[in-house]
Amino acid sequence: MTFTTLPRSRALGGPRTVRPVSAVNGCLKAASDKSCSHRALIFSALANGISQIKDLLESDDVLATARALVQLGAGIERLSPGAWKVIGRDIWTSPSEPLDLGNSGTGARLLMGAAGRFNLTAMFVGDQSLSSRPMARVLNPLSQMGVKSEAAEGGRLPITLTGQVRLKTLDYTMPVASAQVKSAIVLAGLGAEGETSVREPRATRNHTEIMAPIYGADLDVECADKDQIIRVRGGGTLTPANVSIPGDPSSAAFPIAAALVTGSSTVTVTGVMTNSTRFGLYDVLKAMGANLTFIPAGERCGEPLMDITATSGPLKGVHVPPDIAPTMIDEYPILAVIAAFADGMTVMTGLEELRAKESDRLAASAALLDANGVKVELEDNSLTVYGCGARNVPGGGTVETHHDHRLAMSALVMGCGAKNPITVDDVAMIATSYPDFFTHMTALGVQISHAQ
Ligand code: S3P
Repeated sequence: MTFTTLPRSRALGGPRTVRPVSAVNGCLKAASDKSCSHRALIFSALANGISQIKDLLESDDVLATARALVQLGAGIERLSPGAWKVIGRDIWTSPSEPLDLGNSGTGARLLMGAAGRFNLTAMFVGDQSLSSRPMARVLNPLSQMGVKSEAAEGGRLPITLTGQVRLKTLDYTMPVASAQVKSAIVLAGLGAEGETSVREPRATRNHTEIMAPIYGADLDVECADKDQIIRVRGGGTLTPANVSIPGDPSSAAFPIAAALVTGSSTVTVTGVMTNSTRFGLYDVLKAMGANLTFIPAGERCGEPLMDITATSGPLKGVHVPPDIAPTMIDEYPILAVIAAFADGMTVMTGLEELRAKESDRLAASAALLDANGVKVELEDNSLTVYGCGARNVPGGGTVETHHDHRLAMSALVMGCGAKNPITVDDVAMIATSYPDFFTHMTALGVQISHAQ
């Protein structure tokens, strides 16, 4: 059956309490990557014909993108768990209802670029968190290409976007390090007549650049010192492809962190994508003295994979410089938690983009630690964590997650190794990126229950 409406979340929300455990042990297959799942759906929907996607992440964010693509004219069918068929069309049409991207910044921003190259009008809406996030960073370059838009105050959702065929090309230098903005321009550039280029002063995740040629896009990347320039030549047609989604290093960070912060623990996560634009956390963990081993496990969708094993042991605080931020932008909350279990101070700088995530992740990460007895200093765009040392994090707090999935998961990991239980106010948002989180953590021996 081809979906005309795709399922909505069955995620259970509400507060949960995690109890300290003496160890977590086990081996898990990594959850599929969220960024690659969005991109595989979008490229498949743009390619004229049938594409198949294996191991698609069936999370709320990815399903929101799939639903929006159906509204724009694609046929999408779930063949079996993780296996999806997409019937793409090289002409997208105006949806009759608003496109509801829920909590998904990636879905909203990438689709604005992809839809902007067609003769259509679409209204983009989202939940409270997405409606508070900045969209001008995408709308400005798209408007230079000829896409028209009307946004709510401050360049936020709801946004009505009117695209056009044969967009103007653009030569754009990114003012912020954002893979979502870069990808929106590249997707719009596929419909421009000629070459569009995007210059990145700091390389951000490059899954769009890796996946685009798999679907026949004419794109290349030039690396010059720290800069890189992505050039895409528009006007061609995309060809359908069969792709398998690699494991998500951002999701894998949670079970790996659980092993690092809980005594006598060993956890292996298999099939984790090790793309260097996503791997900053693992480099930082090695510098902290974390006991990690990496075994090559082939590749998927042009991305290298490894099986990663983490074993608990002493950790030391480190300085995390700003230039590494784009390669671990989603991992600061969990790094802050791990740093609480280290000996000494961990200083993280250059974190301004954390304020524009699903929540103000900088302030919320500091509050998470503070609520659990860990000394932190938050200054402008930097965070200093004064590590308590292994088995010495007090815990006992209640964490406000601000409906942010990564904060909820980070707090639950902290509770595994803390001295006292930790409660989070809500867990519903975890399904936006890691719907198997509770199954995976329970399999490792983590004890999470409904809060009293
Ligand atoms: C993403 C890019 C990052 C990241 C987000 C996923 C992507 O956002 O935080 O979770 O898939 O392109 P920015 O582009 O805003 O840095």
